[in-house]
Amino acid sequence: MKTTISLIKADIGSVGGHIETPKEILDACEESMAEAKKKKLLIDYYVTRCGDDVQLLMTHTKGVDNKDVHKLAWDTFKKGADLAKKMGLYGAGQDLLKDAFSGNVRGMGPGIAEMEIEERPAEVFVAFMADKTEASAFNLAVYEMFANPMNTAGLVLDPKLHDGFKFEVQDVKGNEYVIFDTPEETYDLLALIGLTDNYAVKRIYRKSGEIAASISTEKVSFIAGTYVGKDDPCMLVRAQSGYPATGEVLNPFAQPYYIAGWMRGSHRGPLMPVGQKNANCTRFDGPPRLIALAFSIKEGKLVGPSDCFDDPGFDRARKMANIMADIMRRHGTFQPHLLPPGEMEYTTLPNVLKKLKPRFKKIEK
Ligand code: F6R
Ligand code: MG
Ligand code: MG
Repeated sequence: MKTTISLIKADIGSVGGHIETPKEILDACEESMAEAKKKKLLIDYYVTRCGDDVQLLMTHTKGVDNKDVHKLAWDTFKKGADLAKKMGLYGAGQDLLKDAFSGNVRGMGPGIAEMEIEERPAEVFVAFMADKTEASAFNLAVYEMFANPMNTAGLVLDPKLHDGFKFEVQDVKGNEYVIFDTPEETYDLLALIGLTDNYAVKRIYRKSGEIAASISTEKVSFIAGTYVGKDDPCMLVRAQSGYPATGEVLNPFAQPYYIAGWMRGSHRGPLMPVGQKNANCTRFDGPPRLIALAFSIKEGKLVGPSDCFDDPGFDRARKMANIMADIMRRHGTFQPHLLPPGEMEYTTLPNVLKKLKPRFKKIEK
């Protein structure tokens, strides 16, 4: 039996600004998931949130991109958004950008990370969920997990990892992707994925073909054609025996790094790993948050999660992220805190330039 794990997320409304999805909305989503489980569409599910994004983790046997499962996610978000509107929540229905469902939630606003797997005798995966950032925020971390032996000792020590992995990289502004073999093509891979405004890792495979990781790379602003908030990506990563150990999967986040997002989707800030209870973006609508939930799974049935960053082992990362946040905040409206014009989710720059145009004079050479 093959098992599909589908993680589908959307911002459908939150309390007090873009901070936190309230329990009432999560309960409403949980209700539709329970019904789908009763009807045997799902084997199991887990509903949670990271900041203002609802996360629907679903297991089933229908494969990726399945119409019924995607429709279930869409209807669940719709129902949650209706309640959010009734409650007067902020940004109610924000990420539901299309009116009618047409077979797949891709291109409709929600973010999707899915994988179909042949379960190992003790299957393990980690679900990552981020708020106030974009998909390429995971580039550096997944490189370290799957291609950097200084992070993942297993690449050197474990014969099952020694061959390396394949990275599928998407041009998030175009519609192309390219697959790299590591370690053979590590430098070519890095040449692309270091350009986080253009390229995002979409999937990672073992050399023998099994899926290892899947990341939501949907760009909501491209779908909407205007500012609607950052994409707030999610990611599924398989761990242990033949994959990086859970600890190797988590370790890259112990040293925070700067990513794009934060306030108005227009600033650089550190990615802060937190336990579920602290996944609330408050200071300057951030700093951007990341949670990691590790599950065991047997014939589609979920066991867990273990809340991985709710651990003193990540206290120093949080402290460092706060210091890094102070360093960026010191720059106010200046770069490098402010993103370059093409990367800001919204900006008054075109209007300001238009207004000032008549006042610009030629510089005499
Ligand atoms: C970032 C985000 C927030 C909002 C900010 C302004 O993705 O969602 O930082 O951009 O709070 O929100 P509005 O424009 O709704 O007042
Ligand atoms: Mg929001
Ligand atoms: Mg969000």
